Amino acid sequence: VHMPADAKVTHRVAELRMLAAHHSYLYHIVDQPEVSDAEYDLLFRELRDLENQYPELVTPDSPTQRVGAPPVDSFGTVVHPVPLLSLGNAFSFNDLQAWAGRASRLVDGATFDYVCEPKIDGLAVALTYEDGLLKTGATRGDGLRGEDVTQNIRTIKSAPLSVPKDKAPRRFEVRGEVFLPISGFQRVNKERAEAGLPLYANPRNTAAGSLRQLDSRVTASRPLDIFVYALRWEEDGWKPPSHWDTLQALKELGFKVNAEIRRCQTLDEVEDYYRVWVEKRESVDYGVDGIVVKINDFEMQRRLGDVGREPRWAIAYKFPPTQEATRLLDIGINVGRTGSLNPYAVLEPVEIGGTTIKLATLHNEDDIRRKDLRIGDRVLVERAGDVIPHVVKSLETDPARGPEFSMPATCPVSGDPVVREPGEAMYYCPNAACPAQFFELLKHFARRGAMDIDGMGESLAHALIEADLVLDLGDLYALNVEQVVGLERLAEKSAENLIAAIQASVSRPLARLVFAIGIRHVGSETAKLLAQRYPNIDALGHATLEELTEIPGIGPKIAESIVAYFQVPKNKETLAKLKAVGVDPQQEVQQRAAPGPLTGLTFVVTGRLETMSREEAEACIRDLGGSATASVSKKTDYLVVGAEAGSKLRKAEQLGTAQLTEEQFVEMMKR
Ligand code: IVH
Repeated sequence: VHMPADAKVTHRVAELRMLAAHHSYLYHIVDQPEVSDAEYDLLFRELRDLENQYPELVTPDSPTQRVGAPPVDSFGTVVHPVPLLSLGNAFSFNDLQAWAGRASRLVDGATFDYVCEPKIDGLAVALTYEDGLLKTGATRGDGLRGEDVTQNIRTIKSAPLSVPKDKAPRRFEVRGEVFLPISGFQRVNKERAEAGLPLYANPRNTAAGSLRQLDSRVTASRPLDIFVYALRWEEDGWKPPSHWDTLQALKELGFKVNAEIRRCQTLDEVEDYYRVWVEKRESVDYGVDGIVVKINDFEMQRRLGDVGREPRWAIAYKFPPTQEATRLLDIGINVGRTGSLNPYAVLEPVEIGGTTIKLATLHNEDDIRRKDLRIGDRVLVERAGDVIPHVVKSLETDPARGPEFSMPATCPVSGDPVVREPGEAMYYCPNAACPAQFFELLKHFARRGAMDIDGMGESLAHALIEADLVLDLGDLYALNVEQVVGLERLAEKSAENLIAAIQASVSRPLARLVFAIGIRHVGSETAKLLAQRYPNIDALGHATLEELTEIPGIGPKIAESIVAYFQVPKNKETLAKLKAVGVDPQQEVQQRAAPGPLTGLTFVVTGRLETMSREEAEACIRDLGGSATASVSKKTDYLVVGAEAGSKLRKAEQLGTAQLTEEQFVEMMKR
């Protein structure tokens, strides 16, 4: 029976909505949270639960309305009332001067004020607001018509769902750039790698793919962000006179305006800003491919007007490229944990932006063919920000070049014929017992974030398999000290520690086990979702496709892969063995994250660490209550410095940020 909400409940819901919106704003837009994530979650859950109980209290701008809506078959078209323009390019100070000179001559030799902004490497969007509420969100499309992606825009935490009505025009449009932070891109790709899915090429493509998802629940799972840079309104009476004033007004309305914007009086100042950014682009958590220089005064803008699809009053001043040409010496194949055959490029070493590149990812066969890469070709290689280097295209013109690339017909490790399922980009070795796969699986099973078996590194995993001691994950738990002593020169004490570590892993929580068993397409985040939904592994094994796809964040592909996993006899055997030795965790009641030794501290990890990957270090930081960010700022408490640290270390030195060696960092976590 549904009871209507009384005044008290109604009031509490309004209060929670305000509090949650306020803290979300402080976190996502101002970047100065006042409460911990756990405190926010508590507010959010109370709101969500009350709204579930009293659906009539849900408002369109409630923070609960950002989780995504049921999938659509296609996007509607939106006609942009005023086209979204593009920008002309400058590649040198000369170009910039020529542009400004031309503009000045058109307005009787006037001088200008400029606004400089980082040029964000994302996708242009237009958001409309009516009576204070977000009404539509559309992609740029061809500038005249875009796609209606309102449901997806709603999932972007830094895109306000509402603005203070009394401060804004009744109807207005905001333009900006949707992007995926580099840290978010790495997270998505890590998740895909863990799940054996092909990786995205760069943050921009990932942002585009995420924003154009027909299932907005998938979009909601991607940490998209937005910077706004323009405002259009129709009413009179509300009129910032310049671009700079408009940006300030946007900020006041609660939009996320890049804090790095600057006003410049002269082109020399613009050039200084540009030079700073050529360096700085490496240390911010978003892709920047240049700066945008805009003439500030709106009256000047109006007089200058547009030419073709470009305004005369703005220009993109592009950064020098981060691409170099080199030779593709070979295409190698790695066999992944889930059996995927992952091609990679072996390159003639080439230096790009201070780093020597020898290897680059190649994604999959289709990608190699699309780019028509052949062994021996001269190719263009790109390295931008922290992104893994990739091959952009072939530069070869020689008609007598090598043959077209084909994936091997058999697994380079086990020799089994490989398969490619319809709709999949990857080839797989179907043999669940393929040594390469089992080796990768064993390493994965033992790693931090999975079963976390201390001391079970790469060489030991190899030795255990070689000695026929571990042919199945379950075999690990039957090992005793005598069997492992002497393997890889393991002394008695270390052998005891290893066995103890294996035994300690018996009680890892369900989400860890779901991740550790290596179901294709199931990364650590998906594993958490599954562990929240199912009481144990057996229950997950009985889940149907329909049931799984109903879980927000789980698409048909993941669902199919889960069902398929539990049908493979070898996997059933492994799980039965694990259960028999006591590895059978039960769902835990959700608990608030307890304060840990790193609570309240912000870390940045840079360079190569010896005992863990950067992602693992970041996961540990979060597990222990701290936060891990991608770029060094005044808010950073510690920079963890690994080998070959670069721009982040320089930044930390400038700011006087405290630094930790890996050893000190590990010590700190133990406290
Ligand atoms: S202004 C008329 N400002 O660059 C002005 N654009 O090459 C047109 N972009 O389609 C846009 N950051 O997607 C502007 N701070 C910024 C920008 C920016 C990125 C993108 C935008 C636009 C493209 C034009």
